[in-house]
Amino acid sequence: MYSHNSLTFTIHPGGSLCGVIRTPGDKSISHRAIMLGSLAEGESRVTGFLEGEDSLATLAAFRAMGVTIARPATGEVVIQGVGMHGLHAPAEPLDVGNSGTSMRLLAGLLAGQGFAVTLTGDASLSKRPMRRVIEPLTQMGARIESEAGGSAPLRILPTAHLVGIDYRLPVASAQVKSALLLAGLYAEGETAVTEPAPTRDHTERMLLGMGYPLERAEGRVALRGGGRLQGGSLAVPADISSAAFFLVGATIAADSDLTLEHVGINPTRVGVIHILRAMGADITLLNLREVSGEPVADLRVRSAPLRGIVIPEEQVPLAIDEFPAIFVAAACAEGETLLTGAEELRVKESDRIQVMADGLALLGIDVEPRSDGIRIRGGKIGSGRVESHGDHRIAMAFAMAGLRASGAITIGDCANVNTSFPGFATLAAGCGLAIEATTEGAA
Ligand code: S3P
Repeated sequence: MYSHNSLTFTIHPGGSLCGVIRTPGDKSISHRAIMLGSLAEGESRVTGFLEGEDSLATLAAFRAMGVTIARPATGEVVIQGVGMHGLHAPAEPLDVGNSGTSMRLLAGLLAGQGFAVTLTGDASLSKRPMRRVIEPLTQMGARIESEAGGSAPLRILPTAHLVGIDYRLPVASAQVKSALLLAGLYAEGETAVTEPAPTRDHTERMLLGMGYPLERAEGRVALRGGGRLQGGSLAVPADISSAAFFLVGATIAADSDLTLEHVGINPTRVGVIHILRAMGADITLLNLREVSGEPVADLRVRSAPLRGIVIPEEQVPLAIDEFPAIFVAAACAEGETLLTGAEELRVKESDRIQVMADGLALLGIDVEPRSDGIRIRGGKIGSGRVESHGDHRIAMAFAMAGLRASGAITIGDCANVNTSFPGFATLAAGCGLAIEATTEGAA
C-alpha cells in the first residue's frame, strides 16, 4: 500500500493561487476516528476521512484486528465497533509505514489488550524516538520490547493489568498524551497527564463526544479506566496542516485570493494562523461553526508582504507540523525570522530544521540552523534541485517556494506526500501552481 515509486515535483516560477478549494481531511482526527470507532459499541459513520497512507495504515491495522470497516465512498468510512474488549490478535505484525501517530497511539491502545502484537514501520519511523511512550506505559504495567535505543519495531506483550499513573510529560506531545489516555481506558484507577504546553486535544474531544467521562483542568487531563464508548456520526474537517501550504502560497504569490473551505481551527492547531498574521499575512476566518465537537471555518487568504518576526515559543506546539511552510514564508519576508524552542522538529518524519535549512540555502537563502530552531533572513529564492528526504511536508513546502523562485525548483523524493495529502499536485495546479509531477519507475 505504500509508495514505492520515486516521485519528483518540478515547479515553474510565478503564478498566483486563486479560487475555492477544500484540502483533505484532518490526519490526526482521521486516525482517532478509526481507533475510537473500533473500540465503540455500535456503528460509527465517518465522513471527510483522510484517505492518505498514514490514516489508511491505522484503518488496515484495525481490520487486521478483526474490525469490519467499510469504505462505501470517497472519504466515507463505516466502522462496526467491537467494544472495548473485542479486538483480536492480528495474524501478522501491524505495519504502520511512515505514521508516528499510528505507532505511538497504538502502543498505548494495545498495551492493555490480552494479546501480543508487533508494530513495525518504514525506515524513517524506525529511527524515531519511541521511549517517550515506552517509559510511561511501562510505569502503567505494560510490557513493551523495542530495538536498542527504544525504536521500532515494538513488541507489545499481554499484561495482567494496567494501573493508572499521574504523568507529567517531559515534552509537549499530543501523541504521548493520547497514548497514555488510550492505555488509561484499560487501566485500574485514574490516568492523568499534565502537559508543559497545550497540544492538540482531538483525543479528549472525541472521547467526550463518544460519551467517555474525562476531567480537564489547567493543562491536565484525567480519566478512569473501565468505561465504554458509544459509536455515532463523525464529520472530519479539512486538515489545517494541509491548508497551511496554501496559506503560505497565497500569501507569498502576487495577486492571490484563495478560500480554503471547512478547515479545522481547533485552538490547539492554529499556531500557523497566529504566526503568519504576526508576519503580516491577510487571513480572514469566515463562517465559523462547530462540527462533531471541533471548531471549523473557511479561510480566505490574499497576497500580502511579510516581515520577519521572533516566533513566540508558546506557538511552537500549536504549529508543530507547519514549520516547513512557515520557513518558506520567512524566506520571502523582509528581514529576519527567528525560531527557538523547537528541537522536536529534529525528530519528525525528517530532521525538519536541517533538511529545510539545506534546501533553502541551496536556493540562495541566508539560513542558520540551530539545535532548537533556525534563523532565516528573507531574500530572493533561486532555482535548483532540493531533496525532501521522503518527508511529505518538506516536499509541499518547497513546492510553494516555487511561486516566488527565479527559475524552476525540482523536488526529489515526493511520494510521501500521499501520507497526508493525496492529490496535492492536482489540487495545487487547479488553483494556479505551475507544478509537474513525474514518476520515475519502481525504486
Ligand atoms: C500528532 C501530534 C504531533 C504531530 C503529528 C500528529 C497527533 O506529534 O507532529 O503530526 O496526531 O497526535 P507530537 O505529539 O509528537 O508532537
